[in-house]
This record gives sequence, structure tokens and C-alpha cells, in this order.
Amino acid sequence: MKVTIQEAMSLLKSGRNVALPTETVYGLAAALIHTHAIENIYVLKGRPSSNPLIIHVETIDQIKEYVTVFPPHFSDLAQAFWPGPLTLILPIYSESIPTIVRAGLPTAGFRIPHDPLTLKVIKEVGPIVMPSANLSGRPSATTPEHVEEDFGKEFPVLDGGACARGLESTILYYQENKWVILRLGSISAESFKSMLGYQPSIAEVSTNEKPLCPGQLFRHYSPKAQLISGRSIPDDATTIILGFYERVYPVEKRVIYLGSLQDPSTVAESLYGVLRQLDQEKIHQAWVDMDFPCNGLWNTIAERLQRASTSCSSLN
Ligand code: TXA
Ligand code: MG
Repeated sequence: MKVTIQEAMSLLKSGRNVALPTETVYGLAAALIHTHAIENIYVLKGRPSSNPLIIHVETIDQIKEYVTVFPPHFSDLAQAFWPGPLTLILPIYSESIPTIVRAGLPTAGFRIPHDPLTLKVIKEVGPIVMPSANLSGRPSATTPEHVEEDFGKEFPVLDGGACARGLESTILYYQENKWVILRLGSISAESFKSMLGYQPSIAEVSTNEKPLCPGQLFRHYSPKAQLISGRSIPDDATTIILGFYERVYPVEKRVIYLGSLQDPSTVAESLYGVLRQLDQEKIHQAWVDMDFPCNGLWNTIAERLQRASTSCSSLN
């Protein structure tokens, strides 16, 4: 149910949850001061409590009260990419942020989103925690309709239109004297090179007791349809193709287009919508054309498609 910005603000102030637009994906919001509303996020999403939440702020100053040490290049990164699709994991004074937000970790993730409505909400309500507004394991929501699909027509959503980026923020963490990527996202790894003097590497997903980025352990972005890849297109009649405008596919096959090989940003923008379309149409199997470049935003697109097609170690 679409709500006005005034309604969204008063719901959050009174300890309720609302879905808010961001440039990446819609977020399922709770005010940082309302622990009960934060707990409810986990219930609504069916999210394991071991998976921490990102704190969304409006200004860099707002995070200064929580953070113990700002790693090198923090200011450069913040100034270059905020507001925008970058999340920085920083060490915090543990008592300053409820355990439930950070899943007991001594760090918290911060981001200034780039959406005028949501920035206004944060200015009025204060810091807001929000994971992506989807049921755990489902593709993230990039339109108000996707949010309603997962949480019902009555769930309050502030309508900011379709998300311009369509993929979640890139998450960086400073470790052993270098920034590393905990989650590939809307900003490519290459984009950090000139500022940092090196391209941050992608942290290994560890399955030990203390994973760096707990969310990477869970099954993600998955439609109910089975996604398969590989060199040859299966010839059974029911398998459809997720492909690109420039390619020629067997004429008898139905193709749902991800976009153009020339333009990864529009592929990113529509990716979760396409994955959701598979379920709306009750398609049981799709072959994904993964023959695209291995650089920039394509790497994030490839990672999301791979995670949508395989089950990771812990399902939820
Ligand atoms: O673009 C985005 O980042 C969106 C919008 C709504 O801002 N949010 C989002 O949140 O994608 P979520 O909860 O779906 O993903 C957050 C990821 C999870 O993988 C979580 O494990 C990781 O961030 N994370 C959060 N706090 C962390 C921390 N302190 N240390 C390591 N990873 C953390
Ligand atoms: Mg998510």
C-alpha cells in the first residue's frame, strides 16, 4: 500500500516498519532507536538473526558517534561515493548500536543512500536500518510492486519509482591494511583503483564460525524457477532462455531479454524484475546466457546469477 512521505515518517517514528526506496533496491526500514521494529524486520523477512543490517544515515557526521577508528581513505571513499551505492563496514563502540543490528559483531555497516525521499525521511527520523525489502532468499525488490508481492498489498511502501541501479550496494571492509570487497555491488571493483592505488580484492566467503560478511553464506536472489547455465542450451521444450538482444538463439525457444551486451547498467536495473517474472509466469527452468564480459558491473551481474542458480551452504 503506497503511503505518503508524512505517513512513512510517522510510522517509523512510532516504531513500525515501512519499505523505502533507494537507488539500489527497496529497503525494509526501522528506526535505529526502535529495537522492537528492528526485531520485526527479521520476523517479516524470515531472516536469520546472524545476518546483520546496514545503518542508513544522511550525513557523514551522523556516524562519527558510533565509530572507533576511521580506516585510511575513509573520507575519500565517503566523499566520492556518498550519497550512493557503497556500504562501509567500520569498527564501532559496541554499546552504541544494539546487538541485533550488527548480529553481535564489533562492526557495523553504514551507507548514505541516494534517494531524495529516503534522505528526507532519515533527516526527520534519524538513522534507519534496512535490509533489502524481500523475503529472505528471494530476489531483492526494485519496485513497490515487488515489495507488495513479498509482504502483501497492505504493507506500507513509500513509492520512489523503479530503482535506478537495481543491484545492492558494494560492501567494503578494511582488513590487514587494505580495503576488501565483502559483497560485489553496484559500484565495480575497478572504480576504487585510482583512489586507493589498488583494486580491492574480493574477500573469500568463509564458512567458519565468524564469517566476515554473514549475508554471503545464505541462499540469495533466487526465483523458484531453476536457473541453469553452461555452454549448450537444453533442448527440452519447457526451458526458456535469459539472454541478450545481440545474440541469436534457437528460433523455437522463448527468450526473456536481460538487455544489451553493450549496457550492463540496464541489465542490472532489470535483473531482479526478470527473475521475479519467471515466478509470476510459473516458469520452471531457464537457461542463462552467461557469455558476457568478465569486468566491471558484469562481475556483479554474474555473481547474482550464480547465486540465484545454486544453493549456498546454509539455506534460509
Ligand atoms: O543496497 C543495499 O545495500 C540495500 C539497500 C536497502 O540499502 N541493502 C541491503 O541490505 O542489501 P541486506 O541486508 O539485504 O544486505 C546487507 C549485507 C548482508 O550480506 C550482511 O551480512 C552485510 O550486509 N552486513 C551488514 N552489516 C555487516 C557487518 N557489520 N559486517 C559484515 N557484513 C555486514
Ligand atoms: Mg538482501
